[in-house]
Amino acid sequence: MPDLTSSIPELVKVVKTARDSGRSVGFVPTMGALHAGHLKLMQEARRENDFVVVSIFVNPLQFDRKDDLDRYPRTLDADMDMCSTVPVDVVFTPSPSELYPHEQLAFVDVPDLTSHLCGAFRPGHFRGVTTVVAKLFHIVRPDRAYFGEKDAQQLAVIRRMVEDLNMPVAVVGIPTVREPDGLALSSRNKHLTAEQRQLAPLLPQILREAQSRLDKGERSASAISRAIKLMFRKYTELRLEYFEIVEPRTLKAVEHVDGPVLIAGAMWVGATRLIDNMSWPVETETN
Ligand code: PAJ
Repeated sequence: MPDLTSSIPELVKVVKTARDSGRSVGFVPTMGALHAGHLKLMQEARRENDFVVVSIFVNPLQFDRKDDLDRYPRTLDADMDMCSTVPVDVVFTPSPSELYPHEQLAFVDVPDLTSHLCGAFRPGHFRGVTTVVAKLFHIVRPDRAYFGEKDAQQLAVIRRMVEDLNMPVAVVGIPTVREPDGLALSSRNKHLTAEQRQLAPLLPQILREAQSRLDKGERSASAISRAIKLMFRKYTELRLEYFEIVEPRTLKAVEHVDGPVLIAGAMWVGATRLIDNMSWPVETETN
């Protein structure tokens, strides 16, 4: 089993010992309820670093809805088992009062990148993410930190935070891990009923549909968007929150597609919100 600590000073001490002996430090921040997507990040961190830290912290600052925070799955025993298969060296599980001993007054904001896509629908969410990730970076001081492309806006925002604030960490993006039917793995998939789980792959399907329309030469984002919205008409239990074709670095909406883009969507299945994205043109697998 990896070492487990919920204390900041203890974590700092363990990582310092590793760093002082010349070991490189890889860091995977998570909110737990670990699945094969998280596992991929941890394995990549293991491959590229001598010492691997995983944090598990359901960060209240990034939840815009209390019910989402309250029902977020918490599965520490199973998470520890998964961490030990990698194996990682230490799992950091701070309590909210360990990370936020008093009201947080200092924040990290990346406004331009967070005003659209998920940011438009989840006020304060990305400010909570960048603030907690900045705090965790200061505590762990990793050489490399691993994030999933599944949360493309989060990855873009963190890359920009690191760049603009000269944080001494290399941000590594990891491709999305999917179920055989295309659904991206997510801790929130645990909320889906069997019936909802059957419907959820519509989200990756619409992204693939957009890719194939672009492959066939369609260039108008609004025409693609109209066709996608029609695909939802027959499902009363699904609601498309947004579907957008954006420029991959700035995340600005593109109307006429004449270069690489990111196709992103968010969909509600009952009370559960799922997000996903795919690139275009489709990168060919090299391994
Ligand atoms: P969480 O949702 O637990 O995700 C932790 C990391 O796993 C993120 O970088 C996320 O993009 C990645 N991930 C999730 N599902 C994935 C999948 N199917 N394939 C590949 N990677 C996947 O994202 C967060 O936590 C939080 O916002 C956090 C960064 C920890 C800050 O609180």
